[in-house]
Amino acid sequence: MFSRNLTKEEVAIINNIEVFVRDKHEKLQGHDYSHILAITHYSIEIARRITESVDPFVIICGALFHDIGRVGTNTGRLHGFRGAAIAEEYLKAIDIDNETREQIVRIVVRHTETSMLPPETVPEKVVYDADDLDRLGLIGMLRGMMVGDAERSMDDIINNRLEKRKKDYERLHFQASRDLGRKLYEETLKLIEFIKASMNQRWKEINKLDLPV
Ligand SMILES: [Fe+2]
Ligand SMILES: [Fe+2]
Repeated sequence: MFSRNLTKEEVAIINNIEVFVRDKHEKLQGHDYSHILAITHYSIEIARRITESVDPFVIICGALFHDIGRVGTNTGRLHGFRGAAIAEEYLKAIDIDNETREQIVRIVVRHTETSMLPPETVPEKVVYDADDLDRLGLIGMLRGMMVGDAERSMDDIINNRLEKRKKDYERLHFQASRDLGRKLYEETLKLIEFIKASMNQRWKEINKLDLPV
């Protein structure tokens, strides 16, 4: 649950961060602004459903900034740390206290496994779960496929996606996250089953060559 409501000043800061983040993410392939909005939306949903008390300003700013480190780089391996540096500079330039800033920066570092630092506090786990949830549904699956792998077969890619989504689902921190993710996860399972069935069907069809003999 949220510990309090946002102040007017905080809403104004959030609006400005939204404009900043939208501008930076707009042209980004895969992790575009809709991903940032989805993560912010899921973070709010999870925060509302859990019994632990969380600060709305910290959660929302953390979610908005979480992938800012992906902007301007191809690999993404260090995007948690790059993003933390960007968020920190931004937040230092506005009037918020050090503790709040630190909490937001920690969310950005610890939202991704590539930082090799797991989420520890409740707000860190909330944004981490929200990011996981966006991967579970169809949109997340398509996003994953946009970062395709030319070396592997279609079958391999699909099985690999399935494995990854299973892990994403299993590592969620809150029951509230699993409740939200169940539908998305099932949606993905259904799609994968459908793709596999149609791949099998097609294989059967093309496998029997109708030779003109
Ligand atoms: Fe990320
Ligand atoms: Fe993300």
